[in-house]
Amino acid sequence: MERVKVTVAVTGGIAAYKAVEVVRQLQEAGFDPHVVMTRAAEEFVRPLTFAAITGHKVISSLWSEDAGASGGEMSGIEHINEAQTTAALIVVPATADILAKFANGIADDFLTTMYLATTAPVIMAPAMNVAMWQHPAVQFNLATLKARGVHVVEPGAGYLACGMVGGGRLAEEAEIVAAVAEALSNAAGTATATNDLAGETVLITAGGTREPIDPVRFIGNRSSGKMGYALAEEASRRGAKVVLVSAPSALPRPAACEFVGVTTAAEMREAVLAKLPSATMVIMAAAVSDYHVAEVAPQKIKRNGARTLQLEPTTDILKEIVAERAPGTMVIGFAAETENVLANGREKLKRKGVDALVVNDVAGTETGFDADRNAGTLLTPEHEMELPAGTKAAMAARILDQLVVLRSAPRERVTAR
Ligand code: CTP
Repeated sequence: MERVKVTVAVTGGIAAYKAVEVVRQLQEAGFDPHVVMTRAAEEFVRPLTFAAITGHKVISSLWSEDAGASGGEMSGIEHINEAQTTAALIVVPATADILAKFANGIADDFLTTMYLATTAPVIMAPAMNVAMWQHPAVQFNLATLKARGVHVVEPGAGYLACGMVGGGRLAEEAEIVAAVAEALSNAAGTATATNDLAGETVLITAGGTREPIDPVRFIGNRSSGKMGYALAEEASRRGAKVVLVSAPSALPRPAACEFVGVTTAAEMREAVLAKLPSATMVIMAAAVSDYHVAEVAPQKIKRNGARTLQLEPTTDILKEIVAERAPGTMVIGFAAETENVLANGREKLKRKGVDALVVNDVAGTETGFDADRNAGTLLTPEHEMELPAGTKAAMAARILDQLVVLRSAPRERVTAR
């Protein structure tokens, strides 16, 4: 099998020597690493070391090696070529300087230019002195890069080359290699250029509904909308017409979707029922409140001793859709559970009468509600498919993969109960 080309970028820190071991472990893991070095990195490790291990020329300059021989011409597209042919850009170690340059889009050498030119996943393993690592400027740049989708392999604590003990020590080599493998498997989930939802109209709900108590207070939940928005993005990328009915969420509206903003469970129900006739697939990813306040106070409630709120159940939208849908419309629910996750999920699948149910364990903080990552299981009356931990974008891709398979199953199997 052909090995996947990845680019290891070495920048100028003491931990540069550890990049040699990362390169070696990437090879062991089946990758074909190519190495890019900054000028400063060459002060720590000789390019020859990497060239010998990888069997590839090490790139460090924006200018071609034979620039003199060819009359000083610039090998102007080498960084674009490297950017476009690599499956991942792995910066190890990542200095404070490179974090700042990437965060600010500075492009003054091969690596920084390549970063701007690549659409491949970027993995950065920072290493620096503990005070530098904790500096707000560094943390601000990190936050910017993370928000932009860069995978950061957090440094560990330990003995540092500067003699101090603390955070800032390069992550273990194996951890960096594992992060590369994970980033690539997530990217594979989202990079498939299929049009397998063409012709479908997918109605997706997202976010957490809010039930007013008085004009300034509400009962809400921790849903961020990330999962539903990721599903909307992915479904429209795959050629579906997407209608996104969203409860409040801080996320930007996904492009190419019909967007309907709602606040309460009742508003969501109304919007969903209005859009249902045109939908061929409904995915209820929203966290819908199970209760609303029986009597919403017309004015702000004043503090005055203990108070009891009378709650009434909201309508179960999912159940209603299952009953109202046109034949052939697939309905998929989500279940956020904190205990007996699979058993509760199976019971809910039956009770709601849906074609499939995505069950999440939301007891942890790393996946589930308001997290960037998710993991779960997709249950159908006949099957149980694990959705391994990954970004919500990757999870969206996996869920839609499964729904496409389910869709192609004989109709009676999908809709008969
Ligand atoms: N749901 C809905 N209408 C509601 C409540 C929930 O359509 N009023 C949908 C959610 O969007 C989700 C699914 O039902 O797709 C499961 O939600 P969940 O709150 O886990 O289910 P409940 O039936 O409320 O069960 P539980 O008693 O566990 O809260």
